[in-house]
Amino acid sequence: MKHIIAPSILSADFANLQRDIEMINTSEADWFHVDVMDGAFVPNISFGFPVLEAVKKYATKPLDVHLMVVKPQRFIERFVHAGADIITVHYEACVHLHRTIQTIKELGCKASVALNPSTPVSLLKDILVDLDMVLIMSVNPGFGGQQFIPQSLNKIAELRKMANEINPNLIIEVDGGIGISNIESLIKAGANAFVAGNAIFAAPNPTQMIADLKNVDVS
Ligand code: DX5
Ligand code: ZN
Repeated sequence: MKHIIAPSILSADFANLQRDIEMINTSEADWFHVDVMDGAFVPNISFGFPVLEAVKKYATKPLDVHLMVVKPQRFIERFVHAGADIITVHYEACVHLHRTIQTIKELGCKASVALNPSTPVSLLKDILVDLDMVLIMSVNPGFGGQQFIPQSLNKIAELRKMANEINPNLIIEVDGGIGISNIESLIKAGANAFVAGNAIFAAPNPTQMIADLKNVDVS
């Protein structure tokens, strides 16, 4: 299967959000990546339900919702109703991660767990079988436009090895500092879904950048 490209609307122009949504709709992108930040789990606030609902109204592709929120279990049902298709919660934000994952799946969404750069992949061993996806943060969450942390490559390779034994269909998504210069090494390490914000929206031609990221040659 070809890898997935998920443009992050955090880097979109919110004054022209419908235009940017249409750009993603007509591009080779696979998903919309939607970053929800609460000002407590991360040192930034982005947007919540009304914006997600507005995106859902126009988006013709699945919404990949990344919750950078403390105790995300409080809001799962509302995010499902607002239009999420895939929900990622942070390992570091959940005391009862297993229960939260079950709730996401019972409500009909794909379930995913994100790891901060300092959180080892080995901590996911006993939950891996229940997950559709793991999101490896390759920057500290909170802001777009940061620099990729190279240690993420080792984490991806280690996680792919674990997944091959426990859950071979696991999607490994990477988020933060991804662009045309590092996507190839990330694919080779075992990742197969890529979030990109700055690389796409700061490009002279965002549609072309999405195509370039999608069609990168790894042979
Ligand atoms: C960071 C967010 C990312 C962010 C990525 O906390 O989770 O999704 O939008 O942006 P870039 O690709 O600019 O690093
Ligand atoms: Zn994200």
